[in-house]
Order: sequence, then structure tokens, then C-alpha cells
Amino acid sequence: MSVLPLALPGQQAGVRRVALLGVGTVGRALLVRLQSLQHPRLQLCLAANSRRRWLGADGLALAGSWSGGDSHDGSGALPDALRAGDIVVDATASAELAAWHPRWLRQGLNVVSANKLGLGGPLLRQHEIRSLATEGRHYGDAATVGAGLPVLRTVRELRAGGDRIGAIVGVLSGTLAWLFDGYDGSELFSQRVLSAVAQGYAEPDPRVDLSGEDVKRKLLILARTAGYALEDAEVRVDSLLTPAIESATIENLAQALTSLDGPLAERAARTARDGKVLRYVARLDAAGARIGLEALAPDDPIAVGRGCDNRIAIWSSRYRDRPLQIQGPGAGAEVTAAALLDDILRVLG
Ligand SMILES: NC(=O)c1ccc[n+]([C@@H]2O[C@H](COP(=O)([O-])OP(=O)(O)OC[C@H]3O[C@@H](n4cnc5c(N)ncnc54)[C@H](OP(=O)(O)O)[C@@H]3O)[C@@H](O)[C@H]2O)c1
Repeated sequence: MSVLPLALPGQQAGVRRVALLGVGTVGRALLVRLQSLQHPRLQLCLAANSRRRWLGADGLALAGSWSGGDSHDGSGALPDALRAGDIVVDATASAELAAWHPRWLRQGLNVVSANKLGLGGPLLRQHEIRSLATEGRHYGDAATVGAGLPVLRTVRELRAGGDRIGAIVGVLSGTLAWLFDGYDGSELFSQRVLSAVAQGYAEPDPRVDLSGEDVKRKLLILARTAGYALEDAEVRVDSLLTPAIESATIENLAQALTSLDGPLAERAARTARDGKVLRYVARLDAAGARIGLEALAPDDPIAVGRGCDNRIAIWSSRYRDRPLQIQGPGAGAEVTAAALLDDILRVLG
């Protein structure tokens, strides 16, 4: 069993303490990366799930069961050991923790987030975070859209160079990309969803993906980064959920998912007859922000790519006729944890 080096009392000069909130799929992958990196200027001082936290010399088991630790209330209150300049990593999807992001910045902490509810939650919070993340306080968001693909960074750089972003179109969900990759209606869609869950491509409750909610958060973050003060209610979402799926318990969800089979098979067959493919697309342009299933030509920049690939096309002042395109694996613990670590290292400068 591997044990991480942990911050002990008496922090050395130049060393940043790291508090990791969320030790699920992504958080654990980040712990593995931190351990293999052994960066002399980073010390893990806290790791926590929603109920327990492991502090200082208690030791953190990377493999096997997480036992021991102290119970805690899952709030964002952090131990006093953390000081200005230290780093909080939010690897949860917790709305409660996202509300703490501005407070942590106000305390002088740097924040690195995979949690989309920070920048993709209420617009006021996004403004607060952006205005607080100045003067040496970092807010790392690379993991929130495209799992570290250089999407947000590119949008920021285009704007810094004076470009106006005219439109952004993308397949922003690795799960939905996987579900529609090669789907022509000949196979039961419900079986594809169950197979995605079994292989870890979808959340244990796939409604998080099928509802379009996760894609909406990503589009909000992208739009706001592009300079559009978009409110949640302004995004039109064409959800894949049927009433039966919405009201199902997790136990009868598999049965409820079959309500998608007929309608989607029919749509896929019609789409194939037209020589097109189905993709779940997010769009931001002069017509507004909208998300839903679309039939695209197979050579459309948004239709290409395989498996869990995200693909994003950006039109700006300098890319008027043909968009700038970014494509690559946009989901998974490894790439997401790597994006978090990149943001942590950016804090070190
Ligand atoms: N998985 C991916 O491929 C991927 C890609 C990009 C972004 N993300 C984002 O990364 C985040 C984490 O995803 P994941 O797949 O690792 O999720 P996960 O496996 O469900 O893990 C979530 C972790 O957060 C913990 N947590 C929840 N509320 C907490 C609280 N109040 N305080 C401390 N810990 C809390 C959970 O603890 P319990 O176990 O006690 O509930 C669990 O350890 C999400 O925002 C997700 O959208 C994931």
C-alpha cells in the first residue's frame, strides 16, 4: 500500500500545501499523479470525501479501502494549517463546495476546480470568482471543460489578442460522444447506456449526462469565458430524458431507459437515410445558446472524432470563414487529473 508524503507542522518556505476535496474517480487519479511527481514545493495536507477527512500525519492510503480519518460535515471550512498562497482542489460535483470558491479566494487561497458549479453556477458567483482571482490568486478551471483540452485557455488568449468570439459549437460531453459514436439505431440505445455505465464512460446515474445538465454547465463556462454574461435560464436544453426515466428510481432505471429505444432508433434511421450522423451538440451564436441532438454531415468538424472525444469549433474575428478546431479525449480520470495538476503547477509559477 502506498502512502503519500503529507505536510507536517512547520511548512518550509516556498512550499504550498494542497487540500484535496473529493477522492472519487478524479481525486484518486490526482493523488497518484501527485505521488509520482513528488514535487518538492507541494505538500498534501488534507484529503476528504463528503463524510471523512484525512489530515496531516494520519496517512493516506492510495490503494485499497479508505479507513480511519476524522468525520466531518462536508462543508468547505478548511483547517487552520492552510494559509494564504496554499491550494484548494475541488474534485467534487458539490454545489455546497462550489459556493465556497469565492470565500477561499478571499482567504488568499488558490483554487483549482474540476467542479463546474463554480464558474458554471450562478452568474454572480462567476463574476465574484473572476474579480477575486487576480493579484496572485489563481483560479484553475482547465478541468471543467474538455478535461484539460486547451479550450478555455484558447478562448482567453483569443480575447486577450483583441478577438471577439462570434460562435462556439461543440460536442462537450465525452459520455454523449461515446453513446452516439457509430449509433445507427440497429442496437438498443438503452443497452448502450448500460454498457457506458458498466465501462465507466457514464456516471453511475446516467441521467446526469442524458439530461444535458452537465453540457449546459460547460457551455455556460465557455460562453462566460468568451465574454457573454449568460444566465442558466438563457440556455435552451433539449434533454434526452423521458418522463419515465425522470421519475425512475435507480433500481428500475434500466427498464425506464428502454423508453428511449424506439424514438431514438427511428431518429437514427431517418438520419442515416439522409446520409447524416446524430451528435449531441452545444451551440452559442447570434441565435443564442442551445443544446440538443442534431443530425450532422459526417464530415462536419463537430461530427468527426471517435469514442469519448470532445470537439469544439470557435469562430472569432480572426477565424471568420473557417473555425479554429480543438479535438481530443475530453473525459476520463487520467486526463482530468492531469489538467488539475497542470493548474496546481501554474500556481507555483
Ligand atoms: N470523471 C471524469 O471523467 C470527469 C471529467 C471532467 C470533470 N469531472 C468532474 O470532476 C468532479 C469529480 O468527478 P468524479 O468522476 O471524480 O466524481 P466521483 O467519483 O463521484 O467523486 C466525487 C467525490 O467528491 C466527494 N464529495 C462530494 N461532496 C463532498 C464534500 N462536500 N466534501 C468533500 N468531498 C465531497 C465524494 O465523496 P463521497 O464518496 O463521500 O460522496 C467523492 O469522493 C465532478 O465535478 C465531475 O463533473 C469528471
